[in-house]
Amino acid sequence: MSLDFDRDSFEKYLHQTVDIVSELYEEKLNRRVFAGKTPDEVLSAFDELLPESETSVESLLEQVRTDVIGSATMNIGPRYFGYITGGGNQVAIMGDMISSALNQNNLKWHSSPISTEMEKLVIRWISQFIGYPDSAAGAILDGGSTANFNCLAVARKNMADEGVAETGMYGLKPMTIYVSEEGHSSFDKAVDMLGIGKKYLRKIPVNDQFQIETEKLEATIEEDRLAGLNPICVIGIAGTTNTGAIDDLEALADIAIKHGMWYHVDAAYGGPAAAVDSVRSQFSGLEKADSVVINPHKWLYVPFEAACILVKEPVKLRKTFSHLPDYLKSDNADDGRTDMMEYQLPLTKSFKSLKVWMTLKAYGAKRLRETIQSDIDKATYLVELIQKSEDFELLAPVPLSIVCFRYTPQGLSEKQLEKVNQRLISEIETDGRIFLTGTRLNSKTALRVCIINPRTTRKDLGLVLDVIRDIGKELY
Ligand SMILES: Cc1ncc(COP(=O)(O)O)c(C=O)c1O
Repeated sequence: MSLDFDRDSFEKYLHQTVDIVSELYEEKLNRRVFAGKTPDEVLSAFDELLPESETSVESLLEQVRTDVIGSATMNIGPRYFGYITGGGNQVAIMGDMISSALNQNNLKWHSSPISTEMEKLVIRWISQFIGYPDSAAGAILDGGSTANFNCLAVARKNMADEGVAETGMYGLKPMTIYVSEEGHSSFDKAVDMLGIGKKYLRKIPVNDQFQIETEKLEATIEEDRLAGLNPICVIGIAGTTNTGAIDDLEALADIAIKHGMWYHVDAAYGGPAAAVDSVRSQFSGLEKADSVVINPHKWLYVPFEAACILVKEPVKLRKTFSHLPDYLKSDNADDGRTDMMEYQLPLTKSFKSLKVWMTLKAYGAKRLRETIQSDIDKATYLVELIQKSEDFELLAPVPLSIVCFRYTPQGLSEKQLEKVNQRLISEIETDGRIFLTGTRLNSKTALRVCIINPRTTRKDLGLVLDVIRDIGKELY
């Protein structure tokens, strides 16, 4: 029994879908960012028994138009500044639609020659874009967290004794991994799940620029070795989640080489900025990493999900993930085929490279570099507005496009300022005109604005401060 439509019906529904998408970009982009509904209110539009019978596609699409889009957070819009969430791009929407239509699965080369070869090409282009050796192997995964997990798995496999795959880590010296206190939480999860243990993820203090203290790092590695531990990996961050700080990647490379350790760089957010003249020098040393994570779904404007792992020596990536049961041995041609399943944890995977390839082709490296630069310029503009004001205070340097600051109306004590800024975070969400998130820096609550959406204008950034003032004045 077929589930397909006849051609006319299919075209009609596709047109209806196109209308929904263009309406989204024409009319809804500027609506309130957070829909302002409670969990029950969101669910109420959908909460019914598992449907036993069919629903007409017209009415289904109409429900998507109203209830699904009506409850979505408008992170494609110009006034979403939360987390490190990209706004996607319109060419990739077409790529995603075609990718779903084609439903490729590149677990093995013959199951999708095009998706496999395109993924390899995109990995090469992204390496070239950020100045990483283009002989690296890689894969496009779902997110930076999975990508960091995969890279630490590669580090562990290649730095551990040969038998680790068979016998696990029982009886081995505990392995230690080093990252700054600003390291992303995906490393905590990864060391937990890889059997290394959170205790052995050494969190090294940072300096006043939020960069890892390299002397403290080296001292800790030496202490750990003397204590009988096995230091296996140094992690550098090229754009921290909190403030966008970039570690001294050259110094970290030297330390990793000197101590015979794996060198991983988490460039999930900041990586694309390595292509931009004005900040490129800060990324010097990235090219020395054994592995790198860079997320096209953050600052390369690709819609979710697309996060790349790059591993300098392809054989080390393959050694980690290659496992061939009989049912996956059916494609034996010896003509240079690559089976992506040997380069990543997942087997089945969607055709993620299509939207990345279409993005890189449609806009070209030059325009992407210029767009990244304009995001950096907008962050600089917001910093200027903050510094010129009398009621805001910058809380961290801004090397890339994340601005951390707080509202500081005159006459309030430190305790009151804390309270006002903490309340501001949730009040801003409810208000819905802008969306930002908070964090803590040097024991102060910070409002955090991340600018990686080319739809954001300077006017939107002025509005950020106006909205905060507007809401903030009611909070003290
Ligand atoms: C530096 C860094 N690494 C890793 C991640 C995790 O990426 P994802 O959200 O794609 O899992 C993030 C997310 O913001 C990040 O900022």
